[in-house]
Amino acid sequence: MQSTESSFENIRKDFPILKRTVRDNKPLVYLDNASTTQKPNQVIDAITDYYQNHNANIHRAVYALAEESTEAYETARDKIANFVNVKNRQEIIFVRGTTEAINLVAYAWGRSHVNEGDIIVTTEYEHHSNIVPWQLLTQEKRAKLEYIGMDDNGELNLDDLDKYLATGKVKLVTFSLMSNVLGTITDAKKIIEKCKAAGVLTLIDGAQAVPHMKVDLDTLGCDFFAFSGHKMLAPTGVGILWVRKSVLQTMNPFHGGGDMIREVHKYETTWNELPYKFEAGTPNIADVIGFGAAIDYLTKIGMDNVRQHEIELTTYALEKFAKIPGLQIYGTKDIAKRGGVISFNFADVHPHDVADIIDKEGISLRSGHHCAQVLMERLNVAATSRASFYIYNTKEDVDALIDSLNIVAKVFKL
Ligand code: ALA
Repeated sequence: MQSTESSFENIRKDFPILKRTVRDNKPLVYLDNASTTQKPNQVIDAITDYYQNHNANIHRAVYALAEESTEAYETARDKIANFVNVKNRQEIIFVRGTTEAINLVAYAWGRSHVNEGDIIVTTEYEHHSNIVPWQLLTQEKRAKLEYIGMDDNGELNLDDLDKYLATGKVKLVTFSLMSNVLGTITDAKKIIEKCKAAGVLTLIDGAQAVPHMKVDLDTLGCDFFAFSGHKMLAPTGVGILWVRKSVLQTMNPFHGGGDMIREVHKYETTWNELPYKFEAGTPNIADVIGFGAAIDYLTKIGMDNVRQHEIELTTYALEKFAKIPGLQIYGTKDIAKRGGVISFNFADVHPHDVADIIDKEGISLRSGHHCAQVLMERLNVAATSRASFYIYNTKEDVDALIDSLNIVAKVFKL
């Protein structure tokens, strides 16, 4: 596909939901993509085709349908590995999503590697899914959870990291590659370099980054990486945990059950080979296959084109937002350091009131704490409104948002 904006206009016809109207017959303007994205026909059709033509359990039986189902499931694993440049498919574990991936690490790695007095380092702009599992672990182990702070531009203070690493007690540094509230793109390379020099492992929450930019795990150099399918056109309930093989080999299973075993006897069990040791039970087969179709779709567009499209939309939106008196935008204005997520507050109007008025115009916008209450405390706000873009959004969508914000201004006499 050519890298022009016109090719992005054609994309919209693949998304049936974008044809519908909401509220008083208003065309749907969907701007909550950081929460979840819409699904193209290609993904919907792949799931329907699986259930209509191939449905059977995987890895267990030798009949034709079971073979087809297993083949489609494992092909999706290869597509995903290739998409994020993972050379060894044994390192790709299917999970329900980023939250389950991080919990898996906290249990299966954390409980055997973290001890009393150790430190886990996270950041002030994490989603709750990259905070709460570490609170549970550190409380259980009498270890400590520390935070890399953030400046007023929404960028991390890496001096904090140096300070924690100097203690010699840090076991893991974990951070989001792109903040789901501020859109800040973390300088992962710098953090990983510092951690490697100190012999400390790194985990990256890639839920907001992988859908929006090229991510290359072969060169990134972290040890754990998590992301979700549903934020990148795939169905809900399927995601990926990637773990470097040398680390994965030191980990105990997470869930026990079928498929993760080699042999089970009354009092002892041996484990299946990687990655199946970490995939207990019948997995979400149809949705994994749907995830494979989403990967095909994004690969055809090209992730550099996706990023470029979002840079153009975000730049356009930031320019328009800057002209609205009383509208405060959070995070850096430097487009090279941010993705297509814009959080804002409008004078002292509560974000839920903003979202409510905007909804009447057919616009879907998230308001609230965005599962990032530590960040809300840092910003000293209870909530924000948040617009987040994806491949099918257009400048007309941004214009519709600006028009509806003008209605908010009128209603509240701003
Ligand atoms: N993590 C999702 C969001 O940021 C739910 O909205």
